[in-house]
Order: sequence, then structure tokens, then C-alpha cells
Amino acid sequence: MPWYFAVIEREHELQNPTSPEKIRLLGECLRLGPQSHVLDMASGRGGPALVLATAFGCRITCVERAEEFHTAARRRVSDAGLEALIELVRADASEFSFEPERYDAALCLGASFVWDGLSATLAALAPAVRPGGFVAVGEPYWRVWPLPEGFEPDPGEEFGTLPETIKCFEQDGLAPVTIIDSSLDDWDRYESLHWLAAEQWLHDHPHDPDAQEISARSERHRQRYLRWERDLLGWAIIAGCKR
Ligand SMILES: C[S@@+](CC[C@H](N)C(=O)[O-])C[C@H]1O[C@@H](n2cnc3c(N)ncnc32)[C@H](O)[C@@H]1O
Repeated sequence: MPWYFAVIEREHELQNPTSPEKIRLLGECLRLGPQSHVLDMASGRGGPALVLATAFGCRITCVERAEEFHTAARRRVSDAGLEALIELVRADASEFSFEPERYDAALCLGASFVWDGLSATLAALAPAVRPGGFVAVGEPYWRVWPLPEGFEPDPGEEFGTLPETIKCFEQDGLAPVTIIDSSLDDWDRYESLHWLAAEQWLHDHPHDPDAQEISARSERHRQRYLRWERDLLGWAIIAGCKR
């Protein structure tokens, strides 16, 4: 079966509910410039790296496990002529070894599940950054708490509220300095591009033995988003400064 996310995110420039403008704002908050070196863990199709390298001329080391996304990132970086600034490593981010305090900023946008949660992600990334540098994580949070009756989080959706999420940074020795929240427009653009990608894949592969499975999964996600998550779920990039 084709990997579900390789089907539904094959066209996303950024694989999170955010925008190029917000990624540029992140780069300003992280004080990026041509002298900066950034580590981007679980970097996907290279979207954030392309935006940051273009806007700030910084160097970025991207670590991504999925072959489909690593290959797409390679093509996008080459098309943009940014090979000199963006290094692409295909690896499991949890096994990627780095020289301590080598980077000015470390990012993990939308993949704290790699370390089984936010706290462990911050603990894994902070050693990569010099004192005074930044760790930025894009993380879901519940906008509404307690969760309403009838809604059951899926496995892995053990998120906190926004104050709880920010508190994790303080507990890990990082002073919270930036929050960049996602708007409903960001969410709708991100989610509905999944629907479009699924629809077009199904159109192009009508006889694929997995077409029914892809269609059912996409439909379930759409219904869940429209019925519950559009109101309940937030997503924000939070940056902490290493003390
Ligand atoms: C929601 S996407 C975010 C991609 C990118 N950070 C962005 O903002 O566009 C999550 C990414 O994590 C990657 N991923 C999942 N497990 C990983 C692991 N153990 N090591 C490296 N990447 C991983 C997925 O392949 C996917 O590209």
C-alpha cells in the first residue's frame, strides 16, 4: 500500500497548518542571518528550510526519515538552487547524532511524536543549541478543555492546553520567547489540501487495490476535522531561548 501521508501530503509546501509568512516571522524571532546554522528535525519535503534559507541566507541541516519526502526535498532544494545552504540527511531524527551546541537554532515542526512527546523533544534538541540559541517546536494543543463529551482523542493525541504546552519549555530550561499560532485559514488550507491530494490520487489510480482504504481514511479524517478538530485543536510554533 502506498504510504498514506505520501499520498495526501505530496503537494504540501509546508506540512503543517502554517504559512510561509509565519515561517519567515519565526526566522526573525530566531534572529537568523547568513551567519546562522539551523538544525531541522523531521524536515519533511523541506518546506520550512526553503523559506528560511531564501529569506535569511542561513545554513540548514535537515533530517528526514521518509524516502518520499527526502526525495521531494532534494528536488525542491535543487530547483531553488539552494544546495549550498541546505544539507539533506535521510535518517531517523531520534538517532541523528550531533556535536553539542553546534547550532544557533533547532526546529521540530509537527513531529514531537518522534521522541514520544514535547518534553522529551525539548530535552533531545536543547543540547544541539549554543547558550542564547533557540529551540522551536510546532505542537498541537487543545483549545477547549475539558474535551467535550462524545469526542475521543486518537492514540498519540495526548496534548496539553496552551499554558501547559508553554510550561514544558520552562521545565526544560528554555525561556519561552515566541509563540506563532495557526489561524483557521491555516488549518483549512492544510487540511483541505489533504482532501484535494486524496481525490486526485484516487482519480489517477481508480483500480489500485488500496484505493478503498485511502478513500475511507481520508473521509474519516475529513469528518473528524469538520465535526470536532476544527473547533478543538490548535497548533502553534513555540520558541524557547536556551539559558
Ligand atoms: C507533519 S510532517 C512535518 C514536516 C516539516 N517539519 C514541515 O513542517 O513541513 C512530519 C514529518 O516527520 C517525519 N518523521 C516521522 N518520523 C520521523 C523520524 N523518526 N525521523 C525523522 N523524520 C520523521 C515524517 O516523515 C514527516 O515528514
